[in-house]
Amino acid sequence: MRRIKIFDTTLRDGEQSAGVNLNHSEKLEIARQLERLGVDIIEAGFPAASKGDFASVKELSDTIKGCSVTGLARAVISDIDRAWEALKGGEEPRLHIFIATSPIHRKYKLKQTKEEVIETAVNAVKYAAERFPVIQWSAEDACRTELPFLAEIVEEVIAAGAKVINIPDTVGYITPEEYGAIFQYLHRNVPSIGKVELSTHCHDDLGLAISNTLAGIQNGASQVEGTINGIGERAGNAALEELAVALHIRKDHFQASTGMNLKEISRTSSLVSKLTGLTVPANKAIVGRNAFAHESGIHQDGVLKEKTTYEIISPELVGYRNNSMVLGKHSGRHAFKNRLNELGLNVPDEDISRLFAIFKELADRKKEMTDEDLAAIILEESLSK
Ligand code: KIV
Ligand code: ZN
Repeated sequence: MRRIKIFDTTLRDGEQSAGVNLNHSEKLEIARQLERLGVDIIEAGFPAASKGDFASVKELSDTIKGCSVTGLARAVISDIDRAWEALKGGEEPRLHIFIATSPIHRKYKLKQTKEEVIETAVNAVKYAAERFPVIQWSAEDACRTELPFLAEIVEEVIAAGAKVINIPDTVGYITPEEYGAIFQYLHRNVPSIGKVELSTHCHDDLGLAISNTLAGIQNGASQVEGTINGIGERAGNAALEELAVALHIRKDHFQASTGMNLKEISRTSSLVSKLTGLTVPANKAIVGRNAFAHESGIHQDGVLKEKTTYEIISPELVGYRNNSMVLGKHSGRHAFKNRLNELGLNVPDEDISRLFAIFKELADRKKEMTDEDLAAIILEESLSK
């Protein structure tokens, strides 16, 4: 079983979600919860971006000891100096430097040739390596970069001192097969690739962030980056709770695991949702309100007989108390009777068919039948007797 490191960027890329702005104490509260969740690395922010970001990265780096804390920097000396000031108090100061490598970014954003991009990246990594024991280097927009150039710059930054090489799909453009092929290409064409860890960083613009991350793992990545609830720029980043549970449930297939304490997932998800103000969609995998809700009669009957008929993940595994049977127009007699018993509304067997018919009639007009609806049906029926 391979151990995959979790690099959480909820507080950096996640905070780049439109409309989100976490204050100092909110960042600290989330970081403490991420520590309990058992992530390996927390990206606390971008120290050169603002005074507030600097202060948060510094505080987290000085106080969080259960996992590594890192901060982002462009390949610019002043960014690296600022990051060093923020991170130097940490147990093992770790810097995350990035520069864009794709032709579109080189031409329009950086206005640099390939040679100039390599020179800028190498100088930044060398400068940072004089201070930081661990440097992660990211090729922004790696997935739209010419592969020979990507291999060339990766070899150069490793020689300059990078210990982790991250391959971001910055714009969420790649497919799983293509993403896996990039890792294979680097393995074949970068002589010193064996000296470093490879990392994934996938955005979800085409809804492929988790599939791409898993393809990266299957092709040699030993670190994955993502956020809680998948928050982040535009459509967000790979959702770490989905990734950790996928590896756990399908360990037979992936032969890889994380150090995440899965029971802390529900609490972490709620905290991030509450403090960022970003609500989790009801049907979101693992942490959505409906992720463990069964509505149809056939499914409810199956689950009441044996949970595993329709449940591949037990809600308790990720910290929820139990699954829920949502009563509605698709529900069957078995679930109806079961809920009446749970509510202590004991109804003689001979009355069930009649009450179930009333329930169905009402359910046809309502989206969801609440416990109060059931109690009202029973009360009305007993009064009319
Ligand atoms: O998506 C991206 O390319 C990033 C980098 C800064 C790593 O977030
Ligand atoms: Zn990103």
